[in-house]
Amino acid sequence: MSRITLTMVVSILAAAMVACGGAPSGVGDPEIGEEIYRTNLEDEPGQHACSECHSLGQSGPFGPSFQGISEIAGERVAGMTAEEYLRESIANPSAFIVEGYHDNLMPKVYGEILSEEEINHLIAFMLSQ
Ligand code: HEC
Repeated sequence: MSRITLTMVVSILAAAMVACGGAPSGVGDPEIGEEIYRTNLEDEPGQHACSECHSLGQSGPFGPSFQGISEIAGERVAGMTAEEYLRESIANPSAFIVEGYHDNLMPKVYGEILSEEEINHLIAFMLSQ
């Protein structure tokens, strides 16, 4: 395929995705992210939704608040963007422990039970806070 044909195909695909209302891959929808944030993802008694540990206001009840997380996330680990840090915090919470909190609270299963798309939605939601 020539370069021009390839460019055309890519533009048509991009236009089609916009027309269908679908977000381009890698970009989440903050509203869907908020739904996921309020859902008990492990679907078992005794397990918690993100929102039961992370508030959007004052810190707590069990984890740091997401208030201002879009700003804070990019400053947590040198060399990591906010998005990279949030992705890692979901998939591998032990990689960085927020000061004053314990490593044993945040569930470590999200990297396995959530799809990449669901994680993208969660990240978009957190970046809107
Ligand atoms: C049972 C409580 C609990 C649940 C449920 C939970 N977390 Fe956490 N989370 C924590 C705790 C405690 C910390 C701080 C310790 C650490 O850094 O791992 C944390 C840290 C984080 C951080 C880093 C915050 C910062 O200020 O740097 C992010 C991002 C995060 N969690 C996202 C999520 C998301 C998204 C979900 C749901 C899919 C979730 N957490 C579910 C307890 C929880």
